[in-house]
Formats: sequence, C-alpha cells, structure tokens
Amino acid sequence: MCGIVGYVGYKPVVDILIDGLEQLEYRGYDSSGIAVKFDADLKVYKAEGKLQNLKDVLKQHSKEISAAKTGIGHIRWATHGAPTVLNAHPHTCSCGNLVIVHNGIIENFKELREKLTKQGCVFKTQTDTEIAAHLIASIYARVKDLTEAVRLAIKELDGAFALCVMHNDYKDTLVVTKRNAPLLVGIGEDEFFVASDVPAVIKHTKKAMYLNDNQIAALTPKSMQLIDENGNVLEPKIEVLPWEPVALSKMGYKHFMLKEINEQPDVIRNILFGKLHTPLEPIVLDEVKLDRKTLKDLNRIQIIACGTSLHAAMAGKYLIESFCDIAVDVEASSEYIYRKTVTDSKTLVIGVSQSGETADTITAVKQSKAKGSHILIITNRPDSAMAREADSLIPVNAGIEVSVAATKSYLAQLISFYLLAFYMAEIKGSTDKALLQSMKTELMLLPQKIEQILASADKIKECAKLYSNTRDFIYIARGINLATALEGALKLKEISYINATGYAAGELKHGPIAMLDETMPVLSILIKGCVYEKLLSNSEEAKARNARMIALTNSKDEKLNDLFDFIIRIPEIQEIFSPVVAIVPLQLLAYYIAEFLGKDVDQPRNLAKSVTVE
Ligand code: AGP
Repeated sequence: MCGIVGYVGYKPVVDILIDGLEQLEYRGYDSSGIAVKFDADLKVYKAEGKLQNLKDVLKQHSKEISAAKTGIGHIRWATHGAPTVLNAHPHTCSCGNLVIVHNGIIENFKELREKLTKQGCVFKTQTDTEIAAHLIASIYARVKDLTEAVRLAIKELDGAFALCVMHNDYKDTLVVTKRNAPLLVGIGEDEFFVASDVPAVIKHTKKAMYLNDNQIAALTPKSMQLIDENGNVLEPKIEVLPWEPVALSKMGYKHFMLKEINEQPDVIRNILFGKLHTPLEPIVLDEVKLDRKTLKDLNRIQIIACGTSLHAAMAGKYLIESFCDIAVDVEASSEYIYRKTVTDSKTLVIGVSQSGETADTITAVKQSKAKGSHILIITNRPDSAMAREADSLIPVNAGIEVSVAATKSYLAQLISFYLLAFYMAEIKGSTDKALLQSMKTELMLLPQKIEQILASADKIKECAKLYSNTRDFIYIARGINLATALEGALKLKEISYINATGYAAGELKHGPIAMLDETMPVLSILIKGCVYEKLLSNSEEAKARNARMIALTNSKDEKLNDLFDFIIRIPEIQEIFSPVVAIVPLQLLAYYIAEFLGKDVDQPRNLAKSVTVE
C-alpha cells in the first residue's frame, strides 16, 4: 500500500513521476504528491483523492516546474492520518530543506515524535512519515552527509519502510532505503528511476537493482553508491526485469478487470506450459524441492494466505487432502501470526500471495521458517520479498494484474494447487496412476471451457441487470465450491459495495436462513457430484422462504426451471475441476453489476492492491 517513485537524470522529471504514479495507482489512491528540485529550491505539490487531482494542480504550475530534473513522488493509502492534502506525501522537516516519501508503517513513531518534539521539531501532520523527515534532518544537521544521516536514522526506526529522500543542499541526489517494504532502482544511461514496483520503471529500462533490507543507495545522474547498515560499500546486483510494458495496457477493454478475466484461458495455458506435457508424463515443478522422503516425513501442511489467495488455499486443501493423504489446515495469515501454532520441521508451510508483498503472509512465512518448516510459496511475483523466503516456489505466471480485484491470479493459484496436488501424489504414490492420468487430461481441457463461458457473457450481463438493485446477496455451495462461493461474494462486495456473503449451504439453516425473504438473491453453485442432491435440498429450503433464486450449474435437469428464477449454465465439468470454471461467471457477474451501478471497477474505494501493513 502506497507507492513511491523517484527520478534523477537529465529529462524533465514531472512527467516521469506522474507516469510512474499512474502505474502504481493500484497501491493506493487516497491522495498523491510530488517534490521536485530546482537549482536552489525544493517545491512540493499535493492533492487529495485520485491522481487526476494532482495533475490538475500541476497544470497550474507547469511553467515553473518544467525545468526540474530530480524529484520524488507518492501515491497514498492512508494508515496514520486522514487522506487530506496536509497528510499527503512528500513530507518535509521543520525548515523545509529535506523532503521524503514513504511506503510502510513506522511502528515506534509515537516515541520518536515525543523525542523529536522535545528537541524542537514542529509537527504539521498526523502521519508516521513526518517523523522520518525530522529524524533524518536532525541527524543531517550533525553529520552533514545525507546518506550517512539516512543510515543512522533507520537504526532508530521500527516497522516497515521504503524511503526516498532529497535535500536542498544537494543539486541532483536521491537517497533511498528500505526494510520490509519493496523498492527497486531502475538503471538507465545517466539516469536512475526509483519505484515500489516494476510497472513504474519498465517503460524506461529493464535493468534494475532490488534493494535488500537496510541497504542504502545514493543516486546521482552519473553514479550509484550502495552501502549496508554498517556503512560498508556493496557491489550492486543488477537484474534484468522479466516484464513487458504492453502488459499494462487495457488492450481495448473498458477496465483492467474485464481484460484480466478474459485473459484467463491463456493464463491457464501459460502455467501448464512446461509443467504438464502430456497426461502420461509426470508433472514437472522445477522449483519445488520436495523429494519422496521429505513428503513421507511430513505430518501436516499449513496453507496461509489472505483474501482471494485464502480462497484459492481452501480449494488447495481440498485437492491435497483428496490426492495426497495428508492433513491440511488453511488459515488467514493475520490469524496465524498471533497464536501458538503447531509448526515444525515436519510441517510444509505453503504461502499463497498474488503480490508476494502481503505483510501478514510474509510475517507468517518468516515465523514458520524460523521453526524449521519447509516453505513453499505460490505467487505471481517470483521477484517479491515473499518469494525470497521460499525453499520451494511455484511462480503462477499470470502476468501483471492491475485491477485491485484479483481474478486471473486466483485462477492461476487454483491451477497451481492442482499441479502441486498431482505432483505430490505422483511422488508419494498416494493416488492411482490411471486416475491421475485422467485428471491431467481434464486439466488440459479447462481453457476451452472457460472460453465457452466468456463467449456467453451476455447471459451473465442480463443476470447482472436483473439483480444489480439489491442491497444484499448470498452465495451458497458445498464441498470444494465453498471456496467459489466465498470468492464470488468477495468479488461482488469489493467492487459493488453490495453486502455479499458466501455460506456453506448446509450452514444456512443454522442462522443465515433468518435473513431470507422475497428481496434476497440466493445464488446456488449447483455442480453435479457428491453434494448435488444436498445442495438442491438447501436451495429448496431457501426457495420456501421466498428468496430470489439463481443457479450456477452444469446440470441440464428440467426441474431446476421451477426452482430457480435465473439459471447460469456452465459447460460439462467434473466436480473436482468445477471451481476453475464456476468462478468465471461470478467474476463477470460482479463486474457487470458494478458497471451497472457506475462504480470504479478497477480502483474500488478503501482498497489497495498490495496490503503491506499488518
Ligand atoms: C482480492 O480481490 C483482494 N483485493 C484481496 O483480498 C487480496 O486477495 C489480498 O489482499 C491478498 O493479496 P495477495 O494475494 O497479494 O497476498
């Protein structure tokens, strides 16, 4: 949450900063700001709300700022202090000579604020960031060296931070550092780009350096000096970024979310490529380092994740338990980290995260690593902090996901769990070979089935139109599709703000049924298989309470026409694979409802794509 950018070089800086912030808008959009450096002056511009508001502010100053070649910028998801202009970054020290942008949370900010106030610093905002500005400035007044001041200051900071700092005494210098928050430096010819994430630099350069925790880099157009927390000079490790700028375009779709939903057949083909050659050959997971002995010795698996990734994990539990004969627990990372977990060297801990940046999941992974567990990470960002903790890795290769509501990354995570379950079953010999072969055949057919659903999007649009005026929405399912119900409901609530909830259908009669009346839509995920008849009964119970019944089904059963007011049909599919197919109409339903309601689909209120605070 929050995105920071910086530039030092020979080009006009404002457009570079604004473009970078635009690419990072998925990280937060409460307010934004930039600071630019002229020969003898530092100027700060800020605006509340979306980035467009900052652009409007800058239009009024375009002449005076056009010459600036060094600057920093920030896009905010508010943690400390309301999303006002005053609390927007960049923040300055008391004399205004030092400016700073920050991503993260400084946990000991109260103590530091008291200490600095006693020393005479005057605080103007409610943010934790402002203390970093005052702290670095007060040390700078003593040591007269910006890099050294930053190095000494971060020793006093607890928590998570990525910082980019400028000082009026330096003509064209940025000093950057980080701990438990992402930061990379893009390397050009006589220019450097600083950013929280790749999209902000990729159109300028593919060469970059990722800072490790507590490293500090001083950047001028002609030089980069990297040091560690003890002041030792380090050799920068330069990497080639594996991203293409084209991935960031909407490619003619109205929203990134719709584009990303439509990419899903190819996302599946992509992840299967190289891992599943033919049904007769074993699954290949190059970066998974689990041998037969390690697998045999395991006594449990714990899967930890948040939000949509948690729903993929729930389906993952079902798959691993079905094929691998091992007990699996799934838990929200935020719950896992503040209790005593029974985790040891015989536990396989699987962290699932689109971004690889989610603070709760990173903490959970680090805790279990310290207890000796093997760590397997399933992520869309193999370059992330979480991936760096991994003993084993499954990169899901979904491509960059811009819409805050996760869609294609969910599907890619689901497919990863099928691959992992089949892979472990093959190594352990826990499932009949012929059955595994037929499973692999079915897995390869999934992209075509999703294409059929995408081709019938109009039917889902029709459903969206009929039900978009509702205040509440209930999704029911059983078995492996409980994950689908929860994920479908999450999609709807996060982009339309309708109070949507997913329930295990059998639980309806234990309380939620009290809410049902003729105003309540109940969407039943009715897939032929071991719970079909049970779910049908649960749907009858809801119908008897006059609920507005919708079915999402692969059944051709005529009697469904009497029970349901609206039926969304999906292709023939085995129950075990149905979560992959059934979620797609629910993503589309959420999308079209939000569209009808005129909501900001790609950037829903109060949310951010990467949740880097606990
Ligand atoms: C998904 O639509 C959400 N915006 C959110 O729940 C997300 O899945 C969650 O924050 C976890 O993120 P991660 O997968 O990057 O760890």
